[in-house]
Amino acid sequence: MEFLTPDKTHDEARQGEALVLEPGEKNLGRKLYIESYGCAMNFSDSEIVASILAEKGFETTSDFNNADVVFINTCSIRENAETRVRNRLKEFAYAKGKNPGMVVGVLGCMAERLKSKFLEEEKLVDVVVGPDAYRDLPNLIDKVDGGQKAVNVLLSREETYADINPVRLNSNGINAFVSIMRGCDNMCSFCVVPFTRGRERSRDPHSIVAECRDLFNKGYREVTLLGQNVDSYKWSATQSADGSEQLAEQPIVNFADLLEMVALIEPDLRVRFSTSHPKDITDEVLHTIAKYDNICNYIHLPVQSGNSRVLELMNRTYDREWYMGRVDAIRRIIPDCAISTDIITGFCTETEEEHNETLSMMDYVQYDYAYMFMYSERPGTLAAKRYADDIPEPIKAVRLNQVVAKQRESSHYRLQQHVGRVDRVLIEGFSKKSDQDYCGRNDKNAMVVFPVQEGYKPGQYANVLVEKCTSATLIGKII
Ligand code: 5AD
Ligand code: SF4
Repeated sequence: MEFLTPDKTHDEARQGEALVLEPGEKNLGRKLYIESYGCAMNFSDSEIVASILAEKGFETTSDFNNADVVFINTCSIRENAETRVRNRLKEFAYAKGKNPGMVVGVLGCMAERLKSKFLEEEKLVDVVVGPDAYRDLPNLIDKVDGGQKAVNVLLSREETYADINPVRLNSNGINAFVSIMRGCDNMCSFCVVPFTRGRERSRDPHSIVAECRDLFNKGYREVTLLGQNVDSYKWSATQSADGSEQLAEQPIVNFADLLEMVALIEPDLRVRFSTSHPKDITDEVLHTIAKYDNICNYIHLPVQSGNSRVLELMNRTYDREWYMGRVDAIRRIIPDCAISTDIITGFCTETEEEHNETLSMMDYVQYDYAYMFMYSERPGTLAAKRYADDIPEPIKAVRLNQVVAKQRESSHYRLQQHVGRVDRVLIEGFSKKSDQDYCGRNDKNAMVVFPVQEGYKPGQYANVLVEKCTSATLIGKII
């Protein structure tokens, strides 16, 4: 069970979404179908894949029955994410039965985790490609056209796809995700990501700024800087532009510097970021957020557990007190800042008292939003090797329900604080329910709905007086 929040980094509504592009100049008539699961990073990667194949003359289709190449970009984070992909492959098998020439490829984290085993387990799959090998896709497809199966799951220490301009056509033209780093060097014991996405590496800040500026020029008004752990972003230019000569003592660009560089592009370009790690988020980053109005007052700070012993088993490298200290720093430096979190219930050996400490942490922080999960053991992780997954499923579920119930109250409490206030809202489009209403988010990422008013269009900011709230939405009018 997952509690849906306005945070779009792991958006349930987008799971399985297919990416469709305008036909390109190099159209050779071959059709690509690509759908994505998992986090925003995966959706962003699919845009890179589509861009690489568009260069090779592919056009996209939203119907896999018509496709020559069918790709599924997969997630491994919990067992149910993988089950979903397996079920989807059964539907592709039926389509391939009718069209035997169809190339079926598995991309992303599950491809990386299972490697060539995928080809044995799922006979319809022709190509298995890990997250760092997308440049090789045209070759791999050629190989399959030649009658072979193809696998590339090499992880890289350098690949950031910095030079590939991702295509963004399923977007609303207002919000975009920009990947600033790849991989993860933290070894949280529950997590498969370090194995599926490899070592952490940061992308050249100049290519990030150029991409964000280009987005602004195309009408986008909000960028979300993406990374598994954005606070450890680090770039040091040790080479001259042509790569030939070592330059002495280049200053390092850290995450606070990068945030500032992006914030300075345009005051009307909103900047968000995800995800922050409690061990790495510095006061310098908090001061930068406080300094710039266009850096949103919203931090996603996964706690996972409120108990120090469990945090140690999780290898999170902070304890309860440290986490509370970081929350205190946020409250001190950015007095009006939304905080969201991720919580896992029923991790190995977690006692009732330890679970209660997660609940009391929730009372302490009063999170604006949360993503909540039952622990799901992942093969190959440190926890799977070291600890028994010994909390029975029904107990995991009871604890999850308690966490979800508490979060409902807390989200509602946080929303209510806006009633009577004037929020600056970036208009994203018409509300789902009516084209008489606009919707958009305030800087704390809460969804606001208000009547359409002449002179205001999507992509513009509006000052909205919040008059009331439902369980997940603020309602008001432009003033
Ligand atoms: N079981 C349950 N939840 C997990 N997460 C990561 N790995 C697991 C797992 N094995 C959750 C964490 C993380 C979020 C992206 O997914 O809370 O922050
Ligand atoms: Fe994203 Fe993690 Fe899922 Fe990979 S395993 S798709 S990094 S959420």
